[in-house]
Amino acid sequence: MTSTEITSTDIPDGKDLAYLSGFGNEHTSEAVPGAVPAGRNSPQRAPLGLYAEQLSGTAFTEPRHHNRRSWLYRIRPSAAHPPFRRIANGRLRSAPFTQAEPDPNRLRWSPLPLPQEPADFVDGLVTVGGNGDVLRREGIGIHWYAANRSMDERVFSSSDGELLIVPERGRLLLRTEFGVLAAGPGHVALVPRGVRFRVELPDGEARGYVCENYGQPFRLPDLGPIGANGLANARDFMAPVAAYEDREEPVEVVNKFGGNLWAAEYGHSPLDVVGWHGNLVPYVYDLRRFNVLGSVSYDHPDPSIYTVLTSPSDTPGLANADFVVFAPRWLVGEDTFRPPYFHRNVMSEFMGLVEGAYDAKAEGFVPGGASLHNMMSAHGPDRTTFDRASAAELVPQKVDDGLAFMFETRWPVVATPEALGAEHLQQDYDGVWRGLERHFRP
Ligand SMILES: [Fe+2]
Repeated sequence: MTSTEITSTDIPDGKDLAYLSGFGNEHTSEAVPGAVPAGRNSPQRAPLGLYAEQLSGTAFTEPRHHNRRSWLYRIRPSAAHPPFRRIANGRLRSAPFTQAEPDPNRLRWSPLPLPQEPADFVDGLVTVGGNGDVLRREGIGIHWYAANRSMDERVFSSSDGELLIVPERGRLLLRTEFGVLAAGPGHVALVPRGVRFRVELPDGEARGYVCENYGQPFRLPDLGPIGANGLANARDFMAPVAAYEDREEPVEVVNKFGGNLWAAEYGHSPLDVVGWHGNLVPYVYDLRRFNVLGSVSYDHPDPSIYTVLTSPSDTPGLANADFVVFAPRWLVGEDTFRPPYFHRNVMSEFMGLVEGAYDAKAEGFVPGGASLHNMMSAHGPDRTTFDRASAAELVPQKVDDGLAFMFETRWPVVATPEALGAEHLQQDYDGVWRGLERHFRP
């Protein structure tokens, strides 16, 4: 352990952690002064006897404004490691998802039960489904996690994609190669592809959602006519300051590669980066900072207005994945059905709820639960919500009783057999819309 190490008791809510501010910034951080060389990346001898190593998140030749890479100055080079061996995948699955047939039905789950046996963050990953192909770096995997113990002598990374973690219950302390991040309900945390990290649970248990983005890294959406500010503001994304572990003891390093888990026994912690610089970093974002924009005249806007982060595809405007948040906001539309309208979309939608309620569903969609509305599946408000909104007096209304989010993706989501057969899959979700009777009487 080193003096830069922060223990979980020091950060009851992460407020005591130092962060670097700004999305996509070129940051520099040193846990020991002088760890990062000045004026060059790879001097003949790196400072302080450290090893210099580059970590890239995009191809070297991608356009400069999309290019992501960082230089790490570490006690040992990552290259010095023993062979990886296959270990059991647990309940983690990856694309291509071929075990179950694509299902056109609307699906909804109650919360994933917390584990009965000891389970850390990696043990506690349960895959809902996904699309694309990890080896083509396209599509996403959607997971739940439910854990009741910290990762002690092991660390994890996914070579298959970056991990967007959405806590619903319990805080997470993420010790990464770049430093320490804290994320609780209401935050999202992102760990880039390949970055090693350990998850500790200050509250003893934790549950939430993960979007494993196999595609292009999440970035802030273009704002177009909105202007230079709004939605998620770049300065609210927080990267860690450098903090390293100097531990000479056995550590199991688990790597997800090609859809499978592999592990190697290291004799030291690979979280040994003493200094780093670059723009490929893990980060946290407080969803309560999201600047919600919406209609101030009429109609419910398309929910793309609530996009926090987008992973683009090769087709302009068509996202591999969007991360969308339904945060507290005012509704003021005149002559408007204010909840989400009925719709059938070409994009597929996985929704989760961090807290409270969601304004299109009066009941059944609870924190920790989830719904999947696949390509062209018809959905929208339930009967109670429809009746209420159709008769409501249209005074300004604050919607502030919940925090829901959506992973929206270009391709249909194929669920895993486990998710389709889960006890917490709700039976008769269709019943939500059954009571919507005809009113047309010509
Ligand atoms: Fe929808």
